Amino acid sequence: MATRAPVIAIDGPSASGKGTIASRVAKRLGFHYLESGALYRLIALISLREGTSDETQLARLAAEMDVVFNDGEIVLVDEAVTEKIRSEPVGIRASEVAKLPALRQALLTRQRAFRRSPGLVADGRDMGTVVFPDAELKVFLTATPEIRAERRYKQLIEKGIDANLRALSRDLRDRDERDAKRAVAPLVPAPDSQVLDSSALSIDEVADRIVGWSLEKKLGGSVGS
Ligand code: DC
Repeated sequence: MATRAPVIAIDGPSASGKGTIASRVAKRLGFHYLESGALYRLIALISLREGTSDETQLARLAAEMDVVFNDGEIVLVDEAVTEKIRSEPVGIRASEVAKLPALRQALLTRQRAFRRSPGLVADGRDMGTVVFPDAELKVFLTATPEIRAERRYKQLIEKGIDANLRALSRDLRDRDERDAKRAVAPLVPAPDSQVLDSSALSIDEVADRIVGWSLEKKLGGSVGS
């Protein structure tokens, strides 16, 4: 009988540190990595460029878009979009298009295709609840809104992008609300998830804890630092 590759699902609100933590955990366990938010951000970028919010059209684009994920680089058709999808306007549009059921449905197959041997670490909002409900380990990563806004602010300033802490806090609050209250696949911890508040923890401490849980469940082979 073919065994399915194990999945570690890491869900949580915007700027909870999911991306950094999930890619680090994947590297340490020798697993593949899926940043599901990038798929929603790609559709958001297309939606902004084409000036459309039409559900059917966006769902078709989601199913058909020609995108390659290669070691942290994201290429849409022939264009490197890794940085372009990180802007705040794209993030805000991503949270808006993410409400569309047909679009979410179209992205399901794409996301599940990332599940390959020896295993997958997937981060997002609904990895443990909808996309991989049978994940071997589910983590709900959170932090206080103030800490998350500060982290996002520092990230943007370090990249040389102008930012305003107050406006960022407001945007984060609005996105949390939209993500948590939408009818389809809302941001909620899976009942069988481990909730981890990273407010007072360093990136290394959070990654260590998740790698520790993974090893307790005998997930992952090669463990480096
Ligand atoms: O993780 P992120 O901030 O890059 O995600 C951008 C938006 O995409 C987020 O506000 C909600 C949406 N999203 C989602 O609905 N489901 C996911 N699994 C991942 C992201």
